[in-house]
Order: sequence, then C-alpha cells, then structure tokens
Amino acid sequence: MLQRQHRAALAVLAIVLCTDLPGHAAQEATGREGAVASRSPRATDVGIEVLRRGGNAIDAAVAVGFALAVTHPSAGNLGGGGFMVIRLADGELVANDHREKAPSRAHRDMFLDEGGEVVTGLSTASHLAVGVPGSVDGLLAILERHGTLSRQEIIAPVLALARDGFPLPADIAAQFARLRPRFEPYPASLAKFTGADGKPLEAGDLFRQPDLAATLARIAEQGRAGFYEGTTADLIVAEMARGGGLIGHRDLAEYRSVWREPVRGTYRGYQIISMPPPSSGGALLIQMLNMLEPYDLASLGRGNPAAVHLMIEAERRAYADRAEHMGDTDFYDVPLEMLMDKDYARHRFADFDPETASRSEDIGAGSWPDESPETTHVSVMDSAGNAVAYTTTLNLGYGSKIVVAGAGFLLNNEMDDFSSKPGVPNSFGLVGAEANAIEPGKRMLSSMTPTLVLKDGEPVLATGSPGGSTIITTVLQVITNVIDHGMDVVTAVAAPRFHHQWLPDQVRYEPGAFTTDTLASLAKIGHVGFRETPGIGDANSVMRVGDEITARSDPRNAGAAAAY
Ligand code: DON
Repeated sequence: MLQRQHRAALAVLAIVLCTDLPGHAAQEATGREGAVASRSPRATDVGIEVLRRGGNAIDAAVAVGFALAVTHPSAGNLGGGGFMVIRLADGELVANDHREKAPSRAHRDMFLDEGGEVVTGLSTASHLAVGVPGSVDGLLAILERHGTLSRQEIIAPVLALARDGFPLPADIAAQFARLRPRFEPYPASLAKFTGADGKPLEAGDLFRQPDLAATLARIAEQGRAGFYEGTTADLIVAEMARGGGLIGHRDLAEYRSVWREPVRGTYRGYQIISMPPPSSGGALLIQMLNMLEPYDLASLGRGNPAAVHLMIEAERRAYADRAEHMGDTDFYDVPLEMLMDKDYARHRFADFDPETASRSEDIGAGSWPDESPETTHVSVMDSAGNAVAYTTTLNLGYGSKIVVAGAGFLLNNEMDDFSSKPGVPNSFGLVGAEANAIEPGKRMLSSMTPTLVLKDGEPVLATGSPGGSTIITTVLQVITNVIDHGMDVVTAVAAPRFHHQWLPDQVRYEPGAFTTDTLASLAKIGHVGFRETPGIGDANSVMRVGDEITARSDPRNAGAAAAY
C-alpha cells in the first residue's frame, strides 16, 4: 500500500517522456519507476497511466492488452489469443497460454477438398478459419492472479476509448482503405471500418466502436461470463451460423487459458525464460542459442559472414526440428527436453561446416505471406522487479476479417497455424506434420516468443515480436545483439535483421543487414535464395540497467515507448 502511494506521488512529479500524439510518440524512454513499449501510442499511454496510478507491470500489461483491441485492431484483440511470460517481483516465473483452440467439431481434413488437396483460403478467410478465442479468459486470469487493480479499473479507460472514439491514425486509416474489399462480404466488418455513409474513414476522423464498447462493458461487469456466456457468446455463435463456422456455445463455455511452466535455458551466464508449447518459440530460441554458444560471436563481429553463416545454419536446423517435432503438448508428445538440451544442440550442429552452406530438403517449399502479417508485442517492467513479455494476435492482419455482428470485435484466422496437410506450407511458409495436425480442442502451434532475459535471477530484458515464422529469429537477434555485441536496447532493436526457416531455403534480410561483401561471401559458400525484404519484426522491448529502465518501441513501426 505504502509503495502504491509512494509510486502515485512520484507519478505526479514524473517527467513525461511519451507524447501520445499519433506520429509524434516517443520511441524510446527511460525512467526508474516503470516502462512500457507497444505498437500503439494510445495503448502505451493506457499502460503507463496504470503504472502511475500504482498498478504493477502485470496490471499495465493486461490494460495494454485490452487497449490494443481498441486502438490497434489489426492485431490487438478480444477474438484472438496470446501468450504472456511473467517474472514476478518475488522471483517466481509463470506463463499464461491463452492460445485459441480448434472447435470441438473441427477435424483433421477440414481444409482439404475431395481429392485431398488444400482448399486455398479456407483456413485464412472463412468462418472455418476461426479458433475458439482465448484472450479474454487469459487477460482476466492473469489480472486476477497477479494484478493489483480491479477488472473495472483496468477496463474503464479502454472502454472509454471505444465508446468516445479517438482520431484515427494515418497508418490505420490506410489499412482500413486497403482491406475494404476483404471486409466487403461481412456487413458488420464493413460497418466497423467505414464511416456512417459507407465512405472510408480518413486519418483524423473520430473512430468510435460502440458495439465493442458494449462488449467491454459486459466483460467489466461479468468477467469471463461477459464474453464466453450470455449475449457475447450468443452473438459469436450467431456469427458462426451465418458463415458455416464451427464454434458452439460449449466451445466457448469450456475455453480456459492455461498456466504453464515457462521454458528455461541459459546463454553465456544469462537465463532465458520463454514460452513453452503450444508455442515453438521458446524451445527453438533456446535450441538456437545452445547451438551458437560454443562459438565466439562477439569476436567474429555482428554482420560478419562467418557469424551470419553460423546463425543461418542454426536457424535451418531448429526450424526443421520444429516441423517434425512440435505441436500442442496436451495432444502430442513433444521431445522438449531433447530440443533444449545443450548436448543435443552440439550433436545437431556437429555437421556444421564453417566453409559451406548446407541445403534444405527440396520439399514443400513455401512462399512468404502476401498480405501483411500482424501480431503485436508488448513489454513492461516496473521498479519492484515485475517484468512482462506479452505477444497477442489474430494471426494475419485483421484475422479472418470477420467482425462478430453486434459485438464489434474481429475473429482470428488462427486455424491456419495448424498443418492442414503434411508438408503443405501455411501462410508463413511453415510446414508441419502429425505433431501439428488438426484435432478437436487442440491448440495450433505458434511461433510467438515472449521472452525475458535474467541475470542472477533479476530481469534484464523483456522482448518479443510479431512476424509469424520470423518472430523466433527476431528475438534471437535482439538477444545476441545485447549479450554478444553489447548493444543497448535502442540499438539492439533497431539493428537490421535476417531470417532463415529451413523451408523455403531462403535467406531473407532487411536492407542494410548485409554488406555486398557479406552477401557475396555467403553466396560463395553455398547459401541460396537471397531475398531483401523490409520490416522483419516489431520487437517492442524493455531493458533494465542498474536502476534505469528503458523502453524501446521498434523504429520499423509507429509504436510508442514511455517510462517514468
Ligand atoms: O502464432 C503464430 O505464430 C502466428 N499466428 C503469429 C502471426 C504473426 O506473427 C503475424 N504477424 N506479424
């Protein structure tokens, strides 16, 4: 209590480092009391206000989670799912899995035609694409167990943003305009993302979401029952009936988020704490770090061909393991210990040849998604030692594009993260097999990698990213930039990235990631499929050095950082 008053008093004196003017939000901010980094200036603002009112980092992260559903509709959500990894002030480490589940009427071949071929679009752009949403149960369970503020206190400012509206930022107005044809089949989607006269909403127009406000009010009043039962559930089931979707009342009533043990690894004396299955992210991150640890990345130098070659080869092997071994551990026996074992990593990497690139098998070569992928990551720390890494998603940008009529929120298209057919790539070019086949009630495999880095048990870094398959390699690079290359968080997040995922056998890289000499050296030793592409990841991160906590929103996007 004393601490809360103390914090609230300090807040009055605080230096405001975040201006919440769209386009003018701070992207880096340092303070001693707390820090938030997210993709949305208004959501960051909601989070920092919660900290100022005396809430802890968990309260703030939950508030940002709800706020993103209002202010960052492409990925923030009530109708999707996510993962939160938390280090509590007393040192306890926990992870909440609120990943979507396959409905009970789902079945293995639901996306195949009579000839056994995958029907294009069914797992991404139809009512069948929707998994049973998990975000609301997860955020409320986290708040109840580890927050200090009430549900009503957390939801009130978010509800006000939905009810009263806010001037639409230019980037989001452009998304609405671009996606209008995709919203067209769904009247509630069209109504939500266009003006009353049916004209596109423009930058600066007041964006009001009355149906979403009503849904938030039901959640504030009734808790999880306000979403998974009663009016909201009826509206979701009616939406499913309209488009031949599978989610029924029982799927909703029975949905529960799950508390899981985070996966733990070590890297050069730091502890790596991340998300276990149904995410592949934590295990793959630890596996790749284990493969890299015997090599002196620091003296090779960042961006040097030898260092890049090492990382690509680690990525290739880890992603090949993902395709074969990883899925929901509640349904499939994932060899998690093996995948994260340092000896296994050495064995797996024994065929690494410093002089020559290996070749990925030439099967099921996928392609990169042609629509903008969207997930979003939030990092929060407070002075008490609470640290939160939170990644949430509808899967692709604006999910299935289907707004639940009368309830005002978008539904995910997360069913595409299952393997529709062995060896056939999903939207991220990822392949899978038995481990990630569709089964009723199963959670689809994810790449989301909310991660905490600790030193001697104390939080140093909270990070994570969107980007589908590229999430895990983005997190890998933020971590190696900090640990091996001694970068501060501002530079570590900004540094250009590259990515390899086994299949397709491509080296994807951002402009500036490689010099022409490095590219030539990589090609010379046999790397193939070079593909320059902007904007890998959006790694909103927070790092603590001594008493100073620095928030860094990824400069690739118009997010915001705030601290006090
Ligand atoms: O869970 C996953 O791995 C994907 N549904 C994440 C999608 C994603 O990151 C899209 N974003 N950029």
